[in-house]
Amino acid sequence: MPDFSDLADLYQEIIMDHRRSPRNEGLPPGHDHSADGFNPFCGDKVSVGLKMEDGVIVDVGFEGEGCAISIASASLMTESVMGRPVDEAVKIFHAFRDLLTNTDGSASADTPSDLGDLEALAGVKAYPTRIKCATLSWHTLKAAIDKKAKPVSTE
Ligand code: FES
Repeated sequence: MPDFSDLADLYQEIIMDHRRSPRNEGLPPGHDHSADGFNPFCGDKVSVGLKMEDGVIVDVGFEGEGCAISIASASLMTESVMGRPVDEAVKIFHAFRDLLTNTDGSASADTPSDLGDLEALAGVKAYPTRIKCATLSWHTLKAAIDKKAKPVSTE
């Protein structure tokens, strides 16, 4: 079992890998859901587009500009929800949000127990302003699922 410093290094490596080589960059061709997100704290913006078939996210992508955490989180988000039914994607969104904001370590009753590489972003919890960087693309994903026309803000 890795010690905490190994784990921190691994998490750092996952974040930098997704920052350097973001997965699913660009809105998918023929997407039928999309939304724009905005972080007023820094002015960064992200757009998320989805293609849905029978309640399943068959394609998802993002575009925008932001800090390393926001781009890595958007990339990880697309990998996490690609090919999943929408209700599962929403559960992962809630679990990820809980991971970053629940200070007592508790989780929602329907929280998936294993968030995989998303757990690399758990360290962001110690830096409240960076939580918005990590959740920007997720709020935008949820707005795209809900077909919200107005840009969503992290505030
Ligand atoms: Fe803008 Fe992180 S500093 S999203």
